[in-house]
Amino acid sequence: MKDSIAILDFGSQYAQLIARRIRESHVYCELFPWDAPAKKILDLQPKGFILSGGPASVYAPNAPQIPDYVLESGLPLLGICYGMQALTKALGGRVAPSEECEYGPAKLETVLPNPIIEKGWHKVWMSHGDRVEEPPVGFEVLARSDNSPAGVIGDTEKKYFGVQFHPEVHHTPDGSKFLQRFVIDVCGVSPDWTPESILVESVSQIRDQVGGGKVLAAVSGGVDSSVAVALVHRSIGDQLAAVFVDNGLLRQGEVHQVISTFNQELGIELVAVDSQAEFLSALTGITEPEEKRRVIGETFIRVFESKAVDLGGAEFLVQGTIYPDVVESQAADRSKVDRIKTHHNVGGLPEDMKFDLVEPLRYLFKDEVRAVGEALGFPREMVWRQPFPGPGLAVRCLGEVTEERLTSLRAADAILRAELEEAGLLIIKSREDGIQGTAQAFAVLLPVRSVGVMGDQRTYQEVVAIRAVTTEDFMTADWARLPHELLACIANRIVNEVQGVNRVVYDITSKPPATIEWE
Ligand code: XMP
Repeated sequence: MKDSIAILDFGSQYAQLIARRIRESHVYCELFPWDAPAKKILDLQPKGFILSGGPASVYAPNAPQIPDYVLESGLPLLGICYGMQALTKALGGRVAPSEECEYGPAKLETVLPNPIIEKGWHKVWMSHGDRVEEPPVGFEVLARSDNSPAGVIGDTEKKYFGVQFHPEVHHTPDGSKFLQRFVIDVCGVSPDWTPESILVESVSQIRDQVGGGKVLAAVSGGVDSSVAVALVHRSIGDQLAAVFVDNGLLRQGEVHQVISTFNQELGIELVAVDSQAEFLSALTGITEPEEKRRVIGETFIRVFESKAVDLGGAEFLVQGTIYPDVVESQAADRSKVDRIKTHHNVGGLPEDMKFDLVEPLRYLFKDEVRAVGEALGFPREMVWRQPFPGPGLAVRCLGEVTEERLTSLRAADAILRAELEEAGLLIIKSREDGIQGTAQAFAVLLPVRSVGVMGDQRTYQEVVAIRAVTTEDFMTADWARLPHELLACIANRIVNEVQGVNRVVYDITSKPPATIEWE
């Protein structure tokens, strides 16, 4: 059993961030709802617990409480914000509403030497109404801020700690270090959760699951399905048949790029299926975004079903489900979240397709998937490239999706990407360099015609919108402040080189209130 930390989520907006920060320290952790069955968590044999923040007040009726098995385990504990308050209440200390709520930056000063927070002043991020007024017996105040006299408390003998601030957000610059000290120094976890160890472990798990069985996979060209398929191939070689469905909704050069990368860099033969005509005909007359997604999902299944028959039966199917999907679906089961877009349409299989799923990325965050991709030998440009939605260009071709309009959109998008690449603004992020350039940038074709003049002639053609955003997590995003000269060059090239387009606009809305994709 590998070393791990269990994080209990008390309803925090930042719970996933806690997990990501810990994984960045090469420590494996899993996130559970605070009231998940004890067995599920104890089966992991964690070496410590982290209790997240949450919106409730500890004395409110039905407020989440620390489950008994956590305190009975005798394992080290770190409570963050609400987690600290719940710990205080459970051990007989006192929590009360503070006179002044503390939202935003604060200065934390250490009071006593301790294993988590270095001596001195630290910039931290606070977000709380209640605060600890009286730590439980055995606890000492280790650090304080103006509005939180007990900003950090701890019982060093029991290895119980509480922090009022949020170490997981990047507004707490030393936060990752604090978390790292807790998981490595206090809990004694060895930091050996590396791309190479993930690879070795996944390969052995896949072999155990699949045995001598036959496995099918569909590659979309996206990072997740590509890495999942390559991992399975590394584990079981020719027992895997991987299909690449060309749905006609991909970007310029993408089909060739995906097939040749698999073939040349990874030695995996993809069975290419040209289904462009089928998808285009299924999309005829459809303009409503969710209907486009539904039709694409359904057509994908039909194509895949018939290919599965051609390839002979298989018992297993590979899916590129990643950890945020798992966590979010756990959370969505508990609350009625308004569905803005159905993102995961390509993967819903009909009930009568009886496959066992192989999901090698089920416990990995996107950054980890990328790092494993690199360890598997994928070129860096491929694993670190920008996300592309499953329904592809269909949700960027507003109005009806026709071959002619897709051709214009593909050409405009290729110009945008080439110019951004040239300016060094296309590749989002690398682990060492932090964030650079745009996180996602693409062209959108609008079903709106406007009047223009080209070479003394009146034109009446469609509009291309450029969308370029910066974001860390794609949940919120800001529009990228691209240089005006670059925008001018992109617009100029698009109207001159792309058929059917005589105007380019730049989208300057953030998310929220807009979303990143236009549909
Ligand atoms: P939105 O538009 O919701 O997008 O702000 C957030 C991220 O999700 C991607 N996206 C999708 N991905 N299927 C996918 O696989 C979809 O239907 C879909 N819709 C949006 C989007 O590109 C962005 O990265």
